[in-house]
Amino acid sequence: MKDTEIVERFLESGVNLHPQVLAEIKKSENLEETISRLLTIVRRSNASVLTPELVHGESSDQKPEKVEVRRRRKRVEAEEHESELLIKRKNDVTGRSMSQGNIESFVSYFSSRYEKLSAILKSRKELREAVSVEHVLQGRQREVSLIGMVSDVRTSRRGNVILELEDPTGTVPVVVLSEEREMMREVREVTRDEVLGVRGFLSNGGNMVIAKEIFFPEVPHREPKRSDAPVAVALISDVHVGSTKFLKEVFLRFVRWLRGELGTSRQKQLAGRVKYVFVGGDLVDGVGIYPEQKEELAVKDIQEQYALFARLIARLPEHIEVVVLPGNHDAARQAEPQPAIEEEFAPQLYQNPRVHMVGNPCFASVHGVSVVSYHGRSLDDMIASIPGLSYTSPARAMQLMLRKRHLSPVYGGRVPLAPELEDHLVLEEPPEILHMGHVHRTEVSSYRGTLVVNSGTFQEQTEFQRRMNIQPTPGRVPIVDLQSMRTTIMRFV
Ligand SMILES: [Fe+2]
Repeated sequence: MKDTEIVERFLESGVNLHPQVLAEIKKSENLEETISRLLTIVRRSNASVLTPELVHGESSDQKPEKVEVRRRRKRVEAEEHESELLIKRKNDVTGRSMSQGNIESFVSYFSSRYEKLSAILKSRKELREAVSVEHVLQGRQREVSLIGMVSDVRTSRRGNVILELEDPTGTVPVVVLSEEREMMREVREVTRDEVLGVRGFLSNGGNMVIAKEIFFPEVPHREPKRSDAPVAVALISDVHVGSTKFLKEVFLRFVRWLRGELGTSRQKQLAGRVKYVFVGGDLVDGVGIYPEQKEELAVKDIQEQYALFARLIARLPEHIEVVVLPGNHDAARQAEPQPAIEEEFAPQLYQNPRVHMVGNPCFASVHGVSVVSYHGRSLDDMIASIPGLSYTSPARAMQLMLRKRHLSPVYGGRVPLAPELEDHLVLEEPPEILHMGHVHRTEVSSYRGTLVVNSGTFQEQTEFQRRMNIQPTPGRVPIVDLQSMRTTIMRFV
């Protein structure tokens, strides 16, 4: 690293280097580690020059009068509270993927999906008496309730919708008659491979069920849990460092706001509450992600892209914990669930003790408030297969995922799913916050007590998005106050 680059790194944090310190840095074996250690010292001290005394501390034989008294800035609220971040590793495949890709793993994957979702459905009183498909087809009961995975959805010539419902004992067609308006509206949102409950009666021939009511696993109405401490979480995603369209200045304004250097006094107060930043994937633009990407890359080396991202993150105040998961542009297995971004590509992020590298999706809790953070690639499949959904308003698709209690219900679409022995994409517990990115549009809504947030992007419109008429909303960052569960969208553009 050149002298100017080292000096520049410290200047980015508003600090000048004493020549003797620069000489010492250059001698160190692990340059990156030394720089990040010294940056931490600088931030703690609030000094504007990094002197040899600061680096080595005051020696013990110095007289007290020589000790310089520095004015400390007022501590912000997030510093007053210990971190309470819990990552549920049970659902994280990082370092323990069980996917073998053979027939047995697919069988195991789908039976796990069926078991988990049918258990949720069975807890409803209308489905307590649900029987197996085999039992239905034996024809002993005219009125039946059953639970199954949708293996096919089709519309008959008469306009009726036929769902093929499958459970471990067999398959039965379930007919939703076109005159059942309410149900027809609901069944339009049904996709292949999701698990549903049905109440109805057996047809005269005894080989199909006429539906009277269909049930999604659904989330119950509830009051969200809140944090006792006045802390907040910033939700971001799709930074796309390395792209010519990455808005570095906008991202730096976000960083400066978190450092208390920007904004009105109310905005600064909110910044001071931010104790966590969740990065929901697509940290970098990656390399070779789509044809002709090269022309839109300012940085063509993936490691270099991550190094730049890590430098931006290193500038966040020290009391902030950062949770980082991969997206489809990142250096991780593409099949979902994704393990964390690989260390060899992003060593600087792994060296930062405040950064938590996790898989996608991530199931976490902060001060008792549960957060599911998922990059959101399955939004592509949802939008492509369900009428009425669009890229303009991703929150509606996210609400449907809550209803289906699954983050990627469509199998065999654009999202490659790894057949893990267990389906980790089922929403076994409805979260307080559901966070996604991927579509580059910030949107906040709520659904039955779950806060639904899409965190937008820091990348301006790409050529591909222009052709697809997708209008991104860069630089709008949702900040959720965990005590009030109120969301503020901060604009940095
Ligand atoms: Fe993205």
